[in-house]
Amino acid sequence: MSNQLLKGKKGIIFGALDEKSIAWKTALACHAQGAQLVLTNAPVALRMGEINKLAEQINAPVIGADVVNMDDLKNLFEQSMQHFGGGVDFILHSIGMSLNVRKGKQYTEIDYGFNQKTLDISAMSLHRVLRTAYEMDAINEWGSVVALTYIAAQRVFPDYNEMADAKALLESVTRSFGYHYGVKKKVRVNSISQSPTRTTAGSGVKGFDGFMNYAEKMSPLGNASGEDCANYCVSLFSDMTRMVTMQNLFHDGGFSFTGVTAAVIEQMEK
Ligand SMILES: NC(=O)c1ccc[n+]([C@@H]2O[C@H](COP(=O)([O-])OP(=O)(O)OC[C@H]3O[C@@H](n4cnc5c(N)ncnc54)[C@H](O)[C@@H]3O)[C@@H](O)[C@H]2O)c1
Repeated sequence: MSNQLLKGKKGIIFGALDEKSIAWKTALACHAQGAQLVLTNAPVALRMGEINKLAEQINAPVIGADVVNMDDLKNLFEQSMQHFGGGVDFILHSIGMSLNVRKGKQYTEIDYGFNQKTLDISAMSLHRVLRTAYEMDAINEWGSVVALTYIAAQRVFPDYNEMADAKALLESVTRSFGYHYGVKKKVRVNSISQSPTRTTAGSGVKGFDGFMNYAEKMSPLGNASGEDCANYCVSLFSDMTRMVTMQNLFHDGGFSFTGVTAAVIEQMEK
């Protein structure tokens, strides 16, 4: 159902890799709510070609950008502003990558070179995006930026590995840049802490299936799906949430505030 909550708004969506991606689902939801979009991803992801299907479906240009390359980001904003004929109203940062997880390194034995790249791609990239937009004055007043995160930033989930540190840094950048951009131009910056979701990045975490079932049983409402997350993003991009900024917002069916559930106790008694 569309209420045209984003009618007339223009946004940039980072991170749509394939149909499972949260960014993909968010792009569809924003389009259905009346927004015009630019899609972007790393050149290596674009080469896989899937994003073109989405681009066709929602009539959006695709502009490649490696999120740790400042020239790429500058070019992305220049081209997007040209395409839209002005600034953007919202941005989704839906990017995560852990080199140590990929290489099978445990948290206690991480390679620090890989770790730096992980932190840069998964966390400082939000600073890079915001800084580029800030310097180019690319986001309109009352614009909204959302980054996706996970509760491992607050509590230990051992197999989430170095991504826990990356998410803690991402949430800190959300608050700190949210302050500066709020003061400068009333732009708001928030993170959504999403339930485990079956995507390419999500499934890379060791023991993901067991963990997803556990989270489902530990959440009064069950796990939030990628589609639910997309709808929550729409609400944060809309004018209905204008005074929300610098927040980490849990979108997890109640998982974050649940100590134990009857379903988990029942399982333990078996
Ligand atoms: N899936 C989950 O369980 C879950 C839960 C909470 C939060 N998140 C977060 O949601 C976000 C989206 O992940 P997803 O689950 O949709 O997986 P995904 O694999 O579909 O998306 C990750 C994206 O990051 C992009 N990316 C990686 N390196 C990049 C670079 N250098 N430049 C530009 N883009 C780059 C990838 O190309 C991909 O599109 C991530 O921040 C992830 O940590 C996921």
